[in-house]
Amino acid sequence: ELQGSVTIIVLGASGDLAKKKTYPALFGLYRNGFLPDNVRIVGYARTKMDHQDYLNRVTQYIKFGEDSDKLESFKELLDYVSGQYDDDTSYQNLDQFIYKSEVERSIDAGKRNRVFYMALPPSVFVPVAKGLKRNVYAKEGINRVVVEKPFGMDSDSSNHLGRELSALFSENEIYRIDHYLGKEMVKNIMNLRFANVLFGHAWDRKFIDNVQITFKEPFGTEGRGGYFDEFGIIRDVMQNHLLQVLTLIAMERPISTDSEAIRDEKVKVLKCIQPIAIEDTLLGQYVAADSNPGYLEDETLKNKDSLTPTFAAAVCWINNERWEGVPFILKAGKALNEAKVEVRIQFHHVAGNLFSGSARNELVIRIQPKEAVYMKFNNKQPGLSYQTIQTDLDLTYHQRYSDLHIPDAYESLILDVLRNDHSNFVRDDELERAWNIFTPLLHKIETHDSEVDIKQYAYGSRGPKELDAFVKKYGYHRDEKADYTWPLQNVNPSAN
Ligand code: BG6
Repeated sequence: ELQGSVTIIVLGASGDLAKKKTYPALFGLYRNGFLPDNVRIVGYARTKMDHQDYLNRVTQYIKFGEDSDKLESFKELLDYVSGQYDDDTSYQNLDQFIYKSEVERSIDAGKRNRVFYMALPPSVFVPVAKGLKRNVYAKEGINRVVVEKPFGMDSDSSNHLGRELSALFSENEIYRIDHYLGKEMVKNIMNLRFANVLFGHAWDRKFIDNVQITFKEPFGTEGRGGYFDEFGIIRDVMQNHLLQVLTLIAMERPISTDSEAIRDEKVKVLKCIQPIAIEDTLLGQYVAADSNPGYLEDETLKNKDSLTPTFAAAVCWINNERWEGVPFILKAGKALNEAKVEVRIQFHHVAGNLFSGSARNELVIRIQPKEAVYMKFNNKQPGLSYQTIQTDLDLTYHQRYSDLHIPDAYESLILDVLRNDHSNFVRDDELERAWNIFTPLLHKIETHDSEVDIKQYAYGSRGPKELDAFVKKYGYHRDEKADYTWPLQNVNPSAN
């Protein structure tokens, strides 16, 4: 833990990310007593606003429930300084401001720590990092720098950004956020795998037939078209969030739970993954349906002929002893029929099966919403019948844990930053490997290579109609006879 005073500086404090995620997470930590006693939070951005405007802006998304007095005392920790992103005088002014508040809080000059949270668009990222290093970097205390994606657009731009950043801050000072690593169920993957003999032993090509990691959102890019069009669904969620989940599912057991031990294993498995081939993908873009606009009708979209995918299914192959031949199918899409993120691990058929009608086992890790781990398995139909039926072993969090409170991913990650735990942050070599897997594919898509085919799908549908055949081609087997769906699929968690 940081000793002495801590100042958290939120760069880009007037932006969307800050007000929707950073400040609510800081409040969540404060409310539960996890912010250090000697903390101040200083927002910095270009917008000129008075103190009250700032408070209104950064607290508008905070859900405080019965804790309105806590919110009032939280506000007392908040200050705002406006300034330019490329101007030393502005940063010196910020430095002076922080310094004054540090002097008020702590007499011991050696313990004035600063955490810089960069909630910024990529265009100002490097100038801000430079300005901070020159003018605001704590000389007598610990510095930590939290950065948010996008970390570049491809291997080259990401490596370039990495070099700029590493010239300024050490790897140990840098925390690259992938907020999926702060989600409860994602954090649970290591426990599931390495604390259960049963799963640990069935976790390889001998038992597992295929793995699907699915991300579905029921809304389009409305209002974010400008940003999204440059990036596309692969950069937006697949190269980062879904690949991180894959890594946790596929990596070998780390030698300890130390953050570098974990990250070493992640890098190792990423090194075994081939760049994704265009033949192993299915790409799509949504079109208008019912009263919902198609992607190309988004008012914030500049290029009205855009071929940016809003849906992608892409298969990763891991060339190692554990996984050779097992497809890891990543699927992500906007404007689909539901909100759901899950990992679905499908096991092989039982060899020489005695019972007709038994379906494959599946282990499902449901990341959101309605966090759950459930296993589809075969059971005798109770009663006089000898029929085999498919049913489940089901750990649904809202049913099993009373008073369940799952903190927001950002709360968990900011706490890790304060505690100097890098386990759930992306290391530089890990990022480089992640880009290598996707860069050739991304370049093909962007140069409209003749092999690239963007299928249309209707807003609110399950995705391109070719999807079922696509996953089937990679071995996913859906047993229609077994007629099983997870019973809680449509249950509202608050009703449990
Ligand atoms: C972000 C993407 O990183 O993740 C968004 O930029 C996406 O497009 C979001 O909606 C999903 O995060 P969550 O936590 O809502 O699943």
